[in-house]
Amino acid sequence: MSETDGLYEQFEQLFGAGTEPIRLFFAPGRVNLIGEHTDYTGGYVFPAALTFGTWAAARRRPDSVCRLASTGFVRQAECDLTELIYKPEDDWANYPKGMIREFQTKGIQVPGFDILFHGNIPNGAGLSSSASIELVTAVALNALTGAGMPMIWLVQAAQRAENQFIGVNCGIMDQFASGMGKAGHAMLLKCETLEFQYVPLLLGDYQLVITNTNKRRELADSKYNERRSECEQGFGILQPYLQSATCLGEVSVEHWRQVSDKVESPIIRKRLEHVVTENARVQASMDALQAGDLLAFGQCMMQSHESLRDQYEVTGIELDALFDEARRVDGCIGTRMTGAGFGGCSVSVVHLDAVELFRQQVAQGYTKTTGLTPAFYVCSIGDGAHELTDGGN
Ligand code: GLA
Repeated sequence: MSETDGLYEQFEQLFGAGTEPIRLFFAPGRVNLIGEHTDYTGGYVFPAALTFGTWAAARRRPDSVCRLASTGFVRQAECDLTELIYKPEDDWANYPKGMIREFQTKGIQVPGFDILFHGNIPNGAGLSSSASIELVTAVALNALTGAGMPMIWLVQAAQRAENQFIGVNCGIMDQFASGMGKAGHAMLLKCETLEFQYVPLLLGDYQLVITNTNKRRELADSKYNERRSECEQGFGILQPYLQSATCLGEVSVEHWRQVSDKVESPIIRKRLEHVVTENARVQASMDALQAGDLLAFGQCMMQSHESLRDQYEVTGIELDALFDEARRVDGCIGTRMTGAGFGGCSVSVVHLDAVELFRQQVAQGYTKTTGLTPAFYVCSIGDGAHELTDGGN
């Protein structure tokens, strides 16, 4: 059975029959393998698109009304395209509204349309369900308006929508991964310039396993914004001593060691220590992958978690419990939190023969420490946002 079975029928039940065709689109969530909390400093990230994501069936209307519905939420929204504003009660529907606004700001005439979303990314798991709603709306609008905007514009517009319309100060990683993903590949992205390369994820006898803490993410947005501003503050202090770096993401570990004593606040020093060493770890992990040394790649992942735990302080008991349990399992060679932190998911590299053992052992230990039951997803790496022509996945 496919995720989109019955979606057209549901669409017509909700919005009625019509003469215009119903078109179907998809955009994925993402998992980040290494390079965490580096994107908004202009540094490196290494995410991949998942086969989990958000589908959207959309059809033009002859007026300037937009109706938004979702199979997962009771709440629907209706808006007049001539006066789009953020409304807290519209909840999830603010993401597509923000995207429409970006098209309009670009001077693209957006016709009225009905749209029905359907997603299978677990809510609040930190696997970028919001970026996938933004990107699926973006590809739908691109098709319905015939605007033909390039994917990289859609990606940047989605980030602007999230920053300005929603008010979350995120970097570009999630939208980039959801828009530009490629099956079987992760993407090494330099966030300052958006230069990137696809890197085949050749894991041989190993498999990626995502583990969900199933912890509600509280205060995540405010803590996220706080970390971001600590980095900005820190870079401001360092800038007079860094001749050539235009952003924190460009500062080498060597250079950082020379100037770190200029930063008086121990907290800010820890934050910068994380960002600078994390960028170096992304480079080291690329070298490891290129050399086919998965063990070394896994080591980089674990060092990344430790730095996010000790220097950046965004893990928390739940993610740390997953980390401690996962690394003890024979056959797990790499593990770390993924995404913003404060709950959400971890990602691990596990031998194919050890996946079952991994689930059992991690679940048991994790529940003992936290009282929570984790969820496991053995994941595949899929393509970025696109229109579906066959009505399938
Ligand atoms: C969230 C943000 C991203 C990135 C990660 C942390 O997912 O949306 O832009 O900053 O956190 O790496």
